[in-house]
Amino acid sequence: MPKIVLITGASSGIGRACAYFLAHHGFIVYAGSRTPSKLEESHPNLYPVALDLTNFEKIKQTIERIHAKHNTLDVVINNAGYGLISSVEHASEEDMQKQFDINVFSIFRVCKAAIPYMKNKKEKAVIINISSYFGKVSFPLFAFYSASKFAVEGLTDALAFELKGIGIRVHSVLPGFTKSNFTDANLVENLSTKDMQSSYKKVLSTLPKLMTNIQNGSEPTAVAQTILDTIQNKDADKRVYVENDSYKIFPLKDALTDDEQMIYRFYKLELEGMQIDKMDLKIAMDAKEILLKEYVSPPTISYLASLCATNKTKLQHTFKEVYKMTIPEYVKKLRLEKANILLKEYPTTIGEVAKAVGYQHQGNFSKLFFEVYGIHPKELLKQNC
Ligand SMILES: NC(=O)c1ccc[n+]([C@@H]2O[C@H](COP(=O)([O-])OP(=O)(O)OC[C@H]3O[C@@H](n4cnc5c(N)ncnc54)[C@H](OP(=O)(O)O)[C@@H]3O)[C@@H](O)[C@H]2O)c1
Repeated sequence: MPKIVLITGASSGIGRACAYFLAHHGFIVYAGSRTPSKLEESHPNLYPVALDLTNFEKIKQTIERIHAKHNTLDVVINNAGYGLISSVEHASEEDMQKQFDINVFSIFRVCKAAIPYMKNKKEKAVIINISSYFGKVSFPLFAFYSASKFAVEGLTDALAFELKGIGIRVHSVLPGFTKSNFTDANLVENLSTKDMQSSYKKVLSTLPKLMTNIQNGSEPTAVAQTILDTIQNKDADKRVYVENDSYKIFPLKDALTDDEQMIYRFYKLELEGMQIDKMDLKIAMDAKEILLKEYVSPPTISYLASLCATNKTKLQHTFKEVYKMTIPEYVKKLRLEKANILLKEYPTTIGEVAKAVGYQHQGNFSKLFFEVYGIHPKELLKQNC
């Protein structure tokens, strides 16, 4: 028996690609949209349906009709969403409410209407919420959109537990930058924020780069394939990332400062006057990540360069450009920071602290510590004992 699917926001981009993709793979797809006429290409498995996501009664009626016809509803894909670009200062009450109404509350409405028809079936039903890379990291002027996607992550977590015992799997699928209508028809821009005279000029200058990244993003079929895999894999993770360059930042997040993260997110962005090539930035960040773990006995610079797939000169130059300090200065900084914590929190001898952070000579360590913190380690230890 073919599975019955309802997908929202199906008139363009990811929703549209997914609706046709699943129809081609034998699913019966109800493609919900404000403008079902846009799904002009007919397919025997695809039924365009008018769906106003702000109206619970209408959603309920649509789901009842689907269920009455097939006696089942197997998969719901909550895909509809749009982005609001606005500073928090300029956003109107209406802007804020609407962003959450479509991106978050519509998911609650659809789930509330669908769960009674999906629970306790012989084969588990599946709910997939389309979240985003922005559900994990934020961008300036995207506070509302990003917060709405963080909310999608939260509601997915709760629902996954809530519905586990009654036979419904719940997942969030997180696309990275993906080609769609998102930057054209469905991006709402606040004109006061957009005014180049506004105090947000600097962060506004980041937008074109972000738009280009989305326009040059992955094909929406990559998301459709991930959705299909998630439906078919009974053991799929609760949170499913669509393979995409955007995610390379995640393992580095804790190791980077806010500014570094911002540069990485936009690649070669002229923020804070830094103009660093994407590959160079990666070399410097890879080296920093290794040093963060290995500062007690760091690798030689030549070996570190080979670990970062570059040569010694390039590494030294790039590291200094990105972090405004040399590699030995960075190692010294890490060692002394750690020593400072040890001296404050774990009373022990100076010699032991020096060794723990990689200094064999207590005298050298004490001298360096004094130069940086303006206090002798002995004094610090005395104060904290
Ligand atoms: N493109 C990306 O880079 C990207 C990355 C991560 C996540 N996403 C997410 O993926 C989902 C699909 O977006 P997309 O990139 O495919 O963009 P899209 O081509 O603009 O499609 C979004 C769909 O959402 C629906 N929608 C937009 N505004 C709406 C409103 N005010 N009321 C009701 N429905 C509305 C529309 O459906 P109808 O017109 O059919 O009603 C529209 O077709 C969204 O949730 C988006 O946040 C996109």
